Amino acid sequence: MCGIVGYVGADQSVEVLLGGLRRLEYRGYDSAGLAVIDPHGDLHTRKRAGKLQVLIDDLDESNLQNGSTGIGHTRWATHGGPNDENAHPHLGDDGKLALIHNGIIENFSELKAELLAEHPETVFASETDSEVAALLVGYQYQQTHDLSLALRNVVGRLHGAFTLLVLHEDEPGVVVGARRNSPLVIGLGDGENFLGSDVAAFVEYTHRAMEIGQDQVVTIRKDSVTVTDFDGVPVETREFEVAWDASAAEKGGWSSFMAKEISEQPAAIANTLIGRISDGAVKLPELDALGPDILTDITRVVFLGCGTAAYAAMLGQYAIEKWAHIPVTVELSHEFRYRDPVIDNRTLVVSISQSGETMDTLMAVKYAKELGARTLSICNTQGSTIPRESDAVLYTHAGPEVAVASTKAFVAQIAAIYLFGLHLASVRGELDAAAVAGLTAELAALPAQLETVIEQKDSISQLAGWMVDTRSVIFLGRHAGYPIALEGALKLKELAYIHAEGFAAGELKHGPIALIEPGQPVFVVVPSPRGENSLHPKVISNIQEIRARGARILAIAEEGDVSVLPFADTVIRIPLASTLFEPVLAVAPLQIFAMELAAAKGLDVDQPRNLAKSVTVE
Ligand code: F6R
Repeated sequence: MCGIVGYVGADQSVEVLLGGLRRLEYRGYDSAGLAVIDPHGDLHTRKRAGKLQVLIDDLDESNLQNGSTGIGHTRWATHGGPNDENAHPHLGDDGKLALIHNGIIENFSELKAELLAEHPETVFASETDSEVAALLVGYQYQQTHDLSLALRNVVGRLHGAFTLLVLHEDEPGVVVGARRNSPLVIGLGDGENFLGSDVAAFVEYTHRAMEIGQDQVVTIRKDSVTVTDFDGVPVETREFEVAWDASAAEKGGWSSFMAKEISEQPAAIANTLIGRISDGAVKLPELDALGPDILTDITRVVFLGCGTAAYAAMLGQYAIEKWAHIPVTVELSHEFRYRDPVIDNRTLVVSISQSGETMDTLMAVKYAKELGARTLSICNTQGSTIPRESDAVLYTHAGPEVAVASTKAFVAQIAAIYLFGLHLASVRGELDAAAVAGLTAELAALPAQLETVIEQKDSISQLAGWMVDTRSVIFLGRHAGYPIALEGALKLKELAYIHAEGFAAGELKHGPIALIEPGQPVFVVVPSPRGENSLHPKVISNIQEIRARGARILAIAEEGDVSVLPFADTVIRIPLASTLFEPVLAVAPLQIFAMELAAAKGLDVDQPRNLAKSVTVE
């Protein structure tokens, strides 16, 4: 939510900032702006409502003077609508200081009142909480003439979540940043340094990155980086190498990032498994902090996540209950935190987050820690906050996910959760080596199987084209197919703005079947007919019940399952896989369907309306 980039180096701030904002635009695209100090020491700002391209067009016309120091922002509106005035940067009262902000300053009304009491002459140019911070830091600078100190004097007064970057005309060559519960990473260059909401902001220029901890302040100059706490005391920092190239965050000839990322799903799974399966056994050295003594002592597992990540967690519940025979629950992070969950030091809380920054999940993890839980983060983003707040992290290696709707991160999350589930089951002695070897072989087969599903893209695209005027779609699944039904509905809602609902197929007769009328399209994830306890006959009965009422059935069924043919209007085939692995294959047609339907409606599939990728507000 809001992308932030800062730069000090050669006289190329505008290019660096725009390149960074282009890669961060998925974080918010209501408006964009930048501030640059030119070689004469003058501050210039430009900001425009709309997507980044509106700002770029404006800059082309205005011929903004370039400079060696700058900050840039792409916004997802919270306080104040998405117009030019509310876009960032915001200025101090003398126009010499510029500030950008990600997050929400919860006590901004009180601070505004205090500010007006002290400086009644202050004029506010926007409705934002961020401008209050800009004015406060500006007034502090007038007293201290030290940008880092001025920012530190203000951040202690702010409640809520924030990343702030500031620059000042009187300190050209300096950008100062501060963070609390909101992301910020440092990029270390040669004669230049960077700040960004994530490494995508600067990966084109450097792969050397550094984490900034909670409640810390960073000052970058072209040849130095200093990190302190809010009191100005230097703190230790940790450098890391960014594991992917700038090209990974480029569209590379695809029609959309989403199309590219759907195609990258086999690689996302393969890369998440690489080095973690050896001779059929699971090896997770990164879980040392959650050693066998802890994993055998825990009495339950609680998954935390939101949206798509929570659906991956549901599959984790089914897998871990089956393999490790330990009670597992799945909690939406934002609900968990405000209940009175029964958690103790024998509870393992596993958070699932692509971004590692989702505020709801971050706060839930912190709450779980306060209650004494052990914490594991399954995350796709190096240097992000949730892994840092957790006892251990298992990274997914899906690469940067730029499209707002999650696809490749989802399947990588399932792969990582399953690896962990098998590890847990082995450590607790619930699965023997042969069973684990069989299951890891099934996991390792998924990338090639998924490839064959994605190859059916053209026929799914044709189906989407036929259904472009559809107003409502229902998705059904049972057991491991249920989270996939929910995910299929979520994808369609968020991309194509079509009313869509996912149900557990068995639930239909308890109410939702009233929705079925002639012609109602219903996607059904059909389980494999193989295996003793297959739910296949039950799902076929569910299909018959709705078909009798006129529903149009779009079945996702395994190759060779002819029993669905009499009851389905369309059948999409997936390769043979066992119950817990089938969902990874069944989700791809639903992702492709939603994307293609949105594209057929002329919608922006990478940046759906009202959304942002990294939800850093509660
Ligand atoms: C849907 C989607 C969201 C995210 C959710 C959690 O396509 O992308 O539902 O899954 O906002 O985000 P992370 O995984 O970053 O915590």
